Amino acid sequence: MKISGETKVYGIFGHPVNHSFSPVMHNAAFEAAGLNCVYVAFDVSPEDLGASAGALRAMSIAGINVTVPHKESIIPFLDSISPEAELVGAVNTIINSGGVLKGYNTDVGGFLMALKEDLDCEPGGMRVTVLGAGGAARAVLTGLCMKGASEINVINRTVSKAQGLADEFHSSFEQIEINAYSLDDADSVRDCLAGAGLIVNCTSAGMKGVEPLALPFEALSKEAFVYDLVYNPVETELVKAARERGNNARTGLGMLLYQGAESFEIWTGTVAPVDVMKKALPL
Ligand code: ATR
Repeated sequence: MKISGETKVYGIFGHPVNHSFSPVMHNAAFEAAGLNCVYVAFDVSPEDLGASAGALRAMSIAGINVTVPHKESIIPFLDSISPEAELVGAVNTIINSGGVLKGYNTDVGGFLMALKEDLDCEPGGMRVTVLGAGGAARAVLTGLCMKGASEINVINRTVSKAQGLADEFHSSFEQIEINAYSLDDADSVRDCLAGAGLIVNCTSAGMKGVEPLALPFEALSKEAFVYDLVYNPVETELVKAARERGNNARTGLGMLLYQGAESFEIWTGTVAPVDVMKKALPL
């Protein structure tokens, strides 16, 4: 990589941020595309977020990804946000066009692209079960509602959060039936698994070092697709159990990759070198 006076600077705001895979993924993409751009990680503490958004304008930083804990709190500092970002209530990508900051949420498109590419699954008209009701679940619900899923059942450890999400999304998408259940309600969990064409895990359960959810896998329909947003380990317990039953199941590496690819395309206006980006991931 050759840095010159013309080099455009991109990066990521997070806290902490040193674990992020985005720098290796995007620098590999810039290099493969022959673009004079560099991508760096900025550890931004919450109290400095406003000043950091101002610095993007002051220093002509071309584009930024935003990760935990800033995805929601960055919004007031931006000039506009995309419809997807509005629905999710979170921004993970910003483009700086001559000092005007626009926010996007590429987790939504990343999730939908991963369903299509990795599972050959189109959620339109489907009954879907979503496990979890946090930030990742919001991006998944947005994608499922935009694609016209027919029914969404949200299951969460804290049922009030699932109910809040169900009410909020139902008010924006009245034609979609959205229900909320507690993870402790064994009968409902079983029914939601049995009736679903697609099951999406948006909880952090099953991540390296975190116990997986104990689910009644025997209830799963053989035709159901299973998508686990967790990508470390490469094969989660959920995906392993689903595959052992003959279900088409994938972990979240694709969503990570495709959200990055969409950010790259927003910034550069060119098609992302997805294969190069995938190879760069240290997984
Ligand atoms: P993210 O941005 O990754 O979605 P989050 O907003 O903190 O992170 O949400 C984490 C989700 O995983 C929540 O739905 C959480 O359940 P609660 O709302 O009850 O906290 C869920 N979660 C995390 N650890 C879990 C576990 N061990 N068992 C079940 N659910 C878990």
